[in-house]
Amino acid sequence: MPHARIIDGKAKAAELQELIRRETAELMARGVKPGLAVVIVGEDPASQVYVRNKSRTAEACGFHSVQHSLPADATEARVLDLVRQLNNDAAIHGILVQLPLPKHLDEDRVTQTILPSKDVDGFHYQNIGRLAAGHLDGAFVPCTPAGCMLMIEDEIGKDLSGLDAVVVGRSNIVGKPMASLLLKANATVTICHSRTRDLPEVCRRADILVAAVGRANMVKANWIKEGAIVIDVGINRVEVDESGEKRSRLTGDVDYDGARRVAAAITPVPGGVGPMTIAMLMFNTLQSARYAGR
Ligand code: GUN
Repeated sequence: MPHARIIDGKAKAAELQELIRRETAELMARGVKPGLAVVIVGEDPASQVYVRNKSRTAEACGFHSVQHSLPADATEARVLDLVRQLNNDAAIHGILVQLPLPKHLDEDRVTQTILPSKDVDGFHYQNIGRLAAGHLDGAFVPCTPAGCMLMIEDEIGKDLSGLDAVVVGRSNIVGKPMASLLLKANATVTICHSRTRDLPEVCRRADILVAAVGRANMVKANWIKEGAIVIDVGINRVEVDESGEKRSRLTGDVDYDGARRVAAAITPVPGGVGPMTIAMLMFNTLQSARYAGR
């Protein structure tokens, strides 16, 4: 019998988006219109969908929204030139270069060329450093972990003192910044990865379990502590057989049906972390426009 609460990321993101839209209107009355530039290089279909969603949501919030699509064989010089041009464009407050980039481009060089003050992804070392130091004032926090934190706060509050949090995955985009946020909220944090000994056993200690590995249904029900909060960051496309027909479906890193019988609350995929990530991108862009308008 499933008993976990389903954390409705889609509804929460819609509420946030509405708030951002209203605050954008107020800011515009003071002469500042938040501007977001999204850059995509190449044709990766998943990235195309994400980027379209980001640009559309920016428009829905009332932002100045521009998208730059470069061909898969664009040179690094061309990408860097575009980033510098956006750095110097006063109408743009947030710059996002969609990752992954084609292999011939140095992601690090591109990411670090974005001005820290326009780095709404929170990937610049200056923003990473501020987060790692726990100095969030004026820093941009990566959107996916920021969205996960808001959902965790809704479930158990802002102070996670005495709680064990386990993050599965050590990426710079999710795992590491997620751990920093949980630590700042006083959780006792463990980061696990592919070299961790007895991963199920470590996960079973978690009051808060964040799965960000990118492997469909990897986290099983018997890895989850009774009453845990489970945040599933995975977005995996899998082929399923539906009455003889092969269909493609999105699934998370957690065995959702199994986990629902054990956890107190869980985020669905789709409709959990994904929409919150986009809402936080809008929040970061609005913040950046506010800083610029001061
Ligand atoms: N690719 C997957 N997630 C992200 C993200 O949060 N930001 C960017 N720029 N690229 C991504």
